[in-house]
Order: sequence, then structure tokens, then C-alpha cells
Amino acid sequence: MTEADLYTLYKGVYVPTCVHPPQSLQYYEEFTFRPNDILIVTYPKSGTTWMQEIVPLIMSGGDPASVETLPNWDRVPWLEEQRACILNLEERPSPRMFATHFHNNMMPPSFFKVKPKVIYVMRNPKDVFTSSFHYYGMTSFLVKPGPQSEFLCKFLDGQVMFGSWFDHVKGWLNAENKDHILYISYEELIMDLKDSVARISQFLEKSLDAEVIDKIADRSVFKNMKQNNMSNYSAVPREFMDQTKSEFLRKGIAGDWKNLLTASEAKHFDAVYKDKMKNVKYKFVWD
Ligand code: A3P
Repeated sequence: MTEADLYTLYKGVYVPTCVHPPQSLQYYEEFTFRPNDILIVTYPKSGTTWMQEIVPLIMSGGDPASVETLPNWDRVPWLEEQRACILNLEERPSPRMFATHFHNNMMPPSFFKVKPKVIYVMRNPKDVFTSSFHYYGMTSFLVKPGPQSEFLCKFLDGQVMFGSWFDHVKGWLNAENKDHILYISYEELIMDLKDSVARISQFLEKSLDAEVIDKIADRSVFKNMKQNNMSNYSAVPREFMDQTKSEFLRKGIAGDWKNLLTASEAKHFDAVYKDKMKNVKYKFVWD
């Protein structure tokens, strides 16, 4: 099946239609944020699920009840997904936690008015590509990646779900009001999870003891999260995500692109990256 069969073009980017039907996109368009809402924003495959584990643990002061009983998509729902409309989000007590893959310029009017707290997670795009390549191959609602070289062209050109990684990152880095945004990278989480949890909790104005921070980091480390059936997507039927082809929590490392990209693909990637990111001042960990 092709892009025309599976995707909707929404505000200039592809979204998989069955996960984001028109009524869900309409719901998000009209959504009313509260100032103390917490929004995890990512380009897909950058560490969304990881953050859906860490943030609820921080907000509960380390109590694992919600991560043990609620699947990540109900615990921290995506606002653009079909489930958002049926979860009675308006009735959830504050502070509410949400996720989104939207670009900054796709956000609904209420977002710019209310300015909820945003945690923007970035990941080395070569690893995002690598993770995506495996993910597109195991889901039924995404166009099959096809040969790696073809998928690379599509990825670099933004002809994939949620469009161009470059536009996503540049859009959020150039957000008009940055006071309510915490920028953090997947690589920083990998390098020092405890320090990252501490930074996030400080941003969320949740003061936690060192002991609680240790506990949260331990719960959300890859091998432990992989065991959590509320976070490892084992509840998703196989016809939707076939984890015998590739697990959702697949490798959980930085630099796996080295096992996938050929030398010439990596060189081409670097050239495109250099050109598209030439005006970006932000110092990325992977540069
Ligand atoms: P890999 O496919 O490289 O393993 P998202 O949740 O945004 O879709 O991102 C998925 C990626 O984050 C996958 O990357 C997944 O393994 C990784 N991930 C999820 N939880 C993680 C954790 N606790 N530690 C490290 N990586 C994690």
C-alpha cells in the first residue's frame, strides 16, 4: 500500500489516517490547554515512550501505580490520536500529561495562548532513521519502508509520517516563546539518566529526593521498561504491530545507525544534514 492509501496530508505533513482520522485532528484543533498541562513533544522514534514513563513517575513522586496499571497511550495520551476524543481529557485533574508529534506551526490556537509546559525530546536523526526503518517494517498502518536507500530518500525529504525531521526540530528550536520549553535529547538520557530525571523534575517544579530520582531512573532504564507490559506495546494486536519482526523497545542505544547505514549513505546523510541545519545555532550532543 502507498502513501495515498494509508496517509492523510494534514497541514503539509503525512499522518497515518487510521490512527489520526479527521475527527481526531478536529478535536485537537479545538482543544483547550491549561497552563499547568505538561506536553511531551517529539518527532516519532525520538524517545516518546521513554518520556511517557519518566514524566508520570516524576509527577507521582516515584509512585509506580500509573505506569504499572495504565498503558502509555492512556497515561500520557497523544492529542492527535483517535483515543484522545474518548478519554474525557477535559475531566482529568491537573496537572494533565499529554504527548504530541505535531510540528510547532501545527499546534492549535490554545497552545500559543496558554503556553503549557513542553518537554521537547530530540534524537540524532541517523538513529531516528534507523529506529523508523525497523518500525515501519513491523506496523500495518505505515507504508512499508521498502529498500533502505529508498526509505532514506523519503526520510531526508520528509515523505514519511509527521514530515521532515529537520523541519520538526528547527520549528521547535525556533519557537517564539521558549520559557515554557525544556529541550533535552535522547542521548543525554542515555548518558546520564539520573541527571536527566533531575533536570526534568526541576523544570516541572517537582522537588524530589535523590533516592526518589534513583528509583525513577531505575524503573525507566531500558531493560526494566522492556518488562513493563504497560509500556512495551505488547497489548497492541499483532496485525497492527508485529513485534516478531522488530520489537517496539528494540535496542535502546545511541549510535545504532552505524549498524545500518552504508558509508556512502552516512556521507549523503551528513551532507543533507549540514545543508538543512546550516543556520541552526543549537549545540546538539551528537554533533
Ligand atoms: P530503538 O528503535 O532505536 O531501539 P518513540 O517512543 O519515540 O517511538 O521512540 C522509540 C525508541 O525509543 C526506540 O528506539 C526504543 O527502543 C527507544 N526507547 C524507549 N524506551 C527506552 C529506554 N527506556 N531507554 C532507551 N531507549 C528507549
